[in-house]
Amino acid sequence: MTENIEYRYLAACAIAREAGKLALSYFQDVSQLTVEVKGVQDLASIADREVEESIVTRLAESFPSDGFLAEERGGAVSPGSAFWVIDPIDGTSNFVRGIPFFCVAIAYMLAGEIEIGIIYDPVADELFAARRGLGATRNGKKIQVTDCNDLTKAMVTFDFNYRTTIERFLASTQQLLSAQCDTRRLGSGALGIAHVADGRSDAYWNFHHYPWDAIAGFAIAREAGGWTSNFLAGEGLTKGNEVLVCTPGIKDVMIAATGIS
Ligand code: IPD
Ligand code: CA
Ligand code: CA
Repeated sequence: MTENIEYRYLAACAIAREAGKLALSYFQDVSQLTVEVKGVQDLASIADREVEESIVTRLAESFPSDGFLAEERGGAVSPGSAFWVIDPIDGTSNFVRGIPFFCVAIAYMLAGEIEIGIIYDPVADELFAARRGLGATRNGKKIQVTDCNDLTKAMVTFDFNYRTTIERFLASTQQLLSAQCDTRRLGSGALGIAHVADGRSDAYWNFHHYPWDAIAGFAIAREAGGWTSNFLAGEGLTKGNEVLVCTPGIKDVMIAATGIS
């Protein structure tokens, strides 16, 4: 079984890099993309669909018995089975506007555990990767969350979408600003979580992520020593959930400010 996961890990790393290169080829000329509106501030383009298709096709060729849960095609998976969770382009709103902050996210789940998390940023050519129990890396080099334990010294990143209430978002934002942390709104939750894992920021939060936005990053952040909220609780795998990822040192104050645990 361990060998099977290693094989999947290596394959997923290579497939994520190829998928990122395909995304980058579309990104060179975003003015040519037809943008489809899926919901309020929820976009997709041919790049999202083609990149997803390439990932699913490659993984299905190598691992025909695995299931798939992917943003553009959907998919029904049973929680205890073996399946891949895929976001072909996380940060589509950035991508279609030519803002170079987006990534490919691929995770592998087995028996309810996130065994593999891969996030590839093709613009920076950075591959964040983790296997459960074996640590997290950026382009093969070990990464670690910071030792931040003080919000006045913290960089707290976040996103907001209209699937949650403005009032709750404003209340949490007010608490965090009152605590005098620095903040950034990013537009790619998956890449934001990878950056917490890499010590570039100290926390990422969002009141709603789908599984494909969150699961790969959770695997990476945990292996980098980060604390992660309980995303898979309840109907997290089917409907999504709240997201908080941070250093252990600011966990309590971040939970108090956001109400996410
Ligand atoms: C979105 C990004 C964004 C988050 C949204 C997601 P997409 O994913 O992760 O940061 O705020 O909730 O839907 O649509 O770019 O794949
Ligand atoms: Ca996404
Ligand atoms: Ca997406």
